[in-house]
Amino acid sequence: MAEQDFSKKEKEYHLDVPQTCEAFFLKGSNSYDWGMKNRLARIFNPRSGKTVMLAFDHGYFQGPTTGLERIDVTIRPLAPYADALMLTRGTLRSLIDPSVANPIVMRASGGPSILKELSDERIAVDMEDALRMNVSAVAVQVFIGGANETQTVHNMTRLVDMGMRYGMPVLGVTAVGKELTRDARYISLATRMLAELGASFVKTYFVPDFEQVTAACPVPIVIAGGKKLPEREALQMARDAIDQGASGVDMGRNIFQSDSPVAMIGAVRKVVHENCGVKEAYEYYLDTKK
Ligand code: R5P
Repeated sequence: MAEQDFSKKEKEYHLDVPQTCEAFFLKGSNSYDWGMKNRLARIFNPRSGKTVMLAFDHGYFQGPTTGLERIDVTIRPLAPYADALMLTRGTLRSLIDPSVANPIVMRASGGPSILKELSDERIAVDMEDALRMNVSAVAVQVFIGGANETQTVHNMTRLVDMGMRYGMPVLGVTAVGKELTRDARYISLATRMLAELGASFVKTYFVPDFEQVTAACPVPIVIAGGKKLPEREALQMARDAIDQGASGVDMGRNIFQSDSPVAMIGAVRKVVHENCGVKEAYEYYLDTKK
């Protein structure tokens, strides 16, 4: 039974202060339930509205990628600098300390290796296991225009249905097959489809005329880093993407294959969260690398 309120202080109802009802900070996310918004607000910084995700899930189809041979040695030290970690459930359970503060974006599709048709993916994680591991989003690859387009769209829409049930955001990842042109027309098609089919946020590649891609996509877009570039070029790509409406990066090789991954992720943070220009961010990289 509740105890009686013996406080001598007068009750204060702040009658002159209307209760505020603010829109959620993230593009296209206002209609979600509390749990979904809370998870998204762990991935995207509510102050900048952006994120620097560290992607190291590459092993799920290509084995021990350069820089990821020993995730315990090379990636663990980077965790404090990342807003979110993107990884597989195997890596999460075997190599990541459960006391880690980062929100987790977990790869939830897979199947074929680099030796086979990559688009032949299936859902590879049960939503119940994602919840058990307290992840903040699940990620699924969708191969628009690929050999298994409908199957991979269906993988995503099934995860979206399950995610809606439990407040779990789905990151739709646009996969680009060798035969498809990486241009704004194709990337707009793919990102818009993923958003319309229910992805809470979308990961794709930066292309010229990217502002058309972000304008036509009603949910946040984060860019993949792609293959390793010289650091200054990678920072320029991040700068251009943010200037053209990206909500952050989900970068892997351009960070963990850098000569100084700690300096590089710090420089990327400067671009994404502090709105630094490329010159300043690159100088930060060089100074920190020393
Ligand atoms: C690749 O399939 C993985 O999903 C990566 O998470 C993604 O490509 C981002 O990594 P990177 O910046 O190395 O392209």
